[in-house]
Amino acid sequence: MGEETLLLNPGPVVLDQRIQDALAQPMISHRSKAFEAVYDDVRDGFRYVYTNSRTDGRQSDWDGEIVLINATATLGMDAGVANFVGADDSVLACINGNFGLRFAQIAERHAAVDRYEIPWGESFDVDALTETIQDGDYDMVTMVHTETSTGLRNPIHEVGQVVAETDALFVVDGVSSIGGERIHPADWSIDVSVVDAQKAVAASPGVCSVFLSQKAIDRLSEEQTYFYGDLHRHLGRAERSQTPFTSAVTLFYGLQAAHEIIQDLGMDAWLKRHERYAAGWERAATAMGLELFARPSGSSDFANTVTAINLPDAVRNDPEPFFAKLREQNVFVGGGHAHLSGDIFRLGTMGSLEPADLDAGLVAIGNAFAQYEGLELDIEASRDALADTVN
Ligand SMILES: Cc1ncc(COP(=O)(O)O)c(C=O)c1O
Repeated sequence: MGEETLLLNPGPVVLDQRIQDALAQPMISHRSKAFEAVYDDVRDGFRYVYTNSRTDGRQSDWDGEIVLINATATLGMDAGVANFVGADDSVLACINGNFGLRFAQIAERHAAVDRYEIPWGESFDVDALTETIQDGDYDMVTMVHTETSTGLRNPIHEVGQVVAETDALFVVDGVSSIGGERIHPADWSIDVSVVDAQKAVAASPGVCSVFLSQKAIDRLSEEQTYFYGDLHRHLGRAERSQTPFTSAVTLFYGLQAAHEIIQDLGMDAWLKRHERYAAGWERAATAMGLELFARPSGSSDFANTVTAINLPDAVRNDPEPFFAKLREQNVFVGGGHAHLSGDIFRLGTMGSLEPADLDAGLVAIGNAFAQYEGLELDIEASRDALADTVN
């Protein structure tokens, strides 16, 4: 790694050199034919990712539409909610981490919200949740696929099918999942999902993509109170391969290159790399004597894009030196959000990371732990476990 920054946090991620070169291309007009071609490539790239991530490797017969918005994912979440519900509507927000909470906070600005909240990192009991959805007469159910704040993958495949039997729309935060996790958009009845350029498609922050099912499109009203995130307006412009407002041209170039990289490798191999790296972090943590934070049960599981690890007590008592030592080595990991601050650290698997980068990160983590007197963690066993899994 030398003097370079190693981003092991779950976004923004290390950029492949092809993306960095793409970002440096000359500016063009966002109303030119040249830009429309870039726009089409980026939208086709997202369609490729979304429809080729099934577990069985087959292509999904998803027939929805994609809009590209100049913004990070929170605006996509905002648009995914605000375009569909108003003061007379009710939303069930499923919360087991910080981003589930964010969905609730967004929805509360627009509609009546029931928070279905369990402790962060715990798995939803799908039977109990099913009863709540069936009894609730909701207009919308929100759920995060991979909770980046806890490293848990939620069972959207089961919940989507329950929501599909009601009138509600199923709105999914796929921000850190799409591109890194298996997903069946049609079979799982996902109506709206959001992904960010800076996560598992491994581009730079600043553009998000909103995937809309036909059911969602049919519910879109032309009269929106929401201006920038008006999805009806975005869809209209998307038909002409443009964004309604000035496009973040440079970031679109970056995304175009990111999608080329994924397609050159093939979606299955791209997904498998995330799966292998996540297994690597899990085995490395266990070999070191540490525990993962998330508590998967039922069909929930550890995420493939981010691994949250409990810090040992000695570090919890005084976490700053741990994170400071990592920063000093130019290695960035995620910390805990909100009440988890100082209790956990989070390692991503997304971005242009080679096995050697993961190993370098592990060595840096070992150095950060070594500052704590009496804390004996077997870093060499951890490196071996990582190497056995990721190479
Ligand atoms: C699951 C999830 N949802 C939403 C977001 C929000 O993204 P941003 O704060 O960049 O808008 C993030 C960012 O880390 C995320 O991981």
